[in-house]
Amino acid sequence: MPYDYSLINNFILLKNFLSVSDAGNIDHLITTALNFKKNPLASQSLGKGKRLGLLFLNPSMRTRLSTQIAAQNLGMEVIVFNAGQDGWSLEFEEGAVMNGSRAEHVKDAAPILGKYFDILGVRTFPSLKNREEDYSEKILQQFVKYAGIPVVSLESATVHPLQSLTDIITISQHLPLKSKTKPKVVLTWAPHIKPLPQCVANSFSQWINGWDKTEFIIANPEGYDLDKGFTNGATVTNDQAYALKDADFVYVKNWSSYKDYGKILPGENNWMLTKEKLSVTNNAKVMHCLPVRRNIELSDEVLDSKNSIVTEEAGNRVWAAQAVFADILKGLQ
Ligand code: CP
Repeated sequence: MPYDYSLINNFILLKNFLSVSDAGNIDHLITTALNFKKNPLASQSLGKGKRLGLLFLNPSMRTRLSTQIAAQNLGMEVIVFNAGQDGWSLEFEEGAVMNGSRAEHVKDAAPILGKYFDILGVRTFPSLKNREEDYSEKILQQFVKYAGIPVVSLESATVHPLQSLTDIITISQHLPLKSKTKPKVVLTWAPHIKPLPQCVANSFSQWINGWDKTEFIIANPEGYDLDKGFTNGATVTNDQAYALKDADFVYVKNWSSYKDYGKILPGENNWMLTKEKLSVTNNAKVMHCLPVRRNIELSDEVLDSKNSIVTEEAGNRVWAAQAVFADILKGLQ
């Protein structure tokens, strides 16, 4: 059955999908995704004859699998390449004398990927050592520059746009149909055993602010404020209990310090979200991008309770990716 495009108004014809700036109308993407959720194979000929390359420089389960399913639902052929372990180690320095362990320059590799594929997905993490370099998105931008085809971020040094679109889709599914007031969404920092990127928290902030349909509060310990370029528009507090009061959604995530870049600061182990802390919320739905460290970031009793919507959230990764690929494919026709 051909897809009823009237359901999704019109495509916005994405080129690259690297951050919220590329999303165009967020509500349009949500509607498209939710229509695919109802009817996954509605556009199964849209990607016929088109090939998606998924390049992973870092580990992944949800992104790897959901993007493959999404592309297959659209009739695309998909090839996954685990560059970090199966390929030649890539060099990203301009003018590098390549006498070390890195065997191939991105300037040589990316144009070849551009010949093999119609759309390229790339996952790369930050170094957490050089803030300027990470925040310039040096690695992802070189794939954009040299591949010559649409590039979709599968998580980069600073953001995770497919995750954030998923998160907003998930929130939108739990909103009252005729909400009179804006729902209160809290992003709360949580402890972790090792330094993690700021990507998910940056990206969630950027998308929630761009969507502009919630009262948005970020709670984190001193020293963990995110880059204001991502959080502008949100209230930022160091008081977790204050933030959680009457919350409708609580998004839990660890991130390392942006100010003291990539560091874990001492003495913040009482930030784990527990059932007791959740009791001051408006019976809030609890979200996390996963993978989650149980009883470090979030207690078992919260994760295993009805408040947790983390599995539904991860399931929605397919529909977010499918909405994005569908728009890009329409532009390629
Ligand atoms: N949330 C997320 O991106 O999960 P993966 O790292 O498993 O892809």
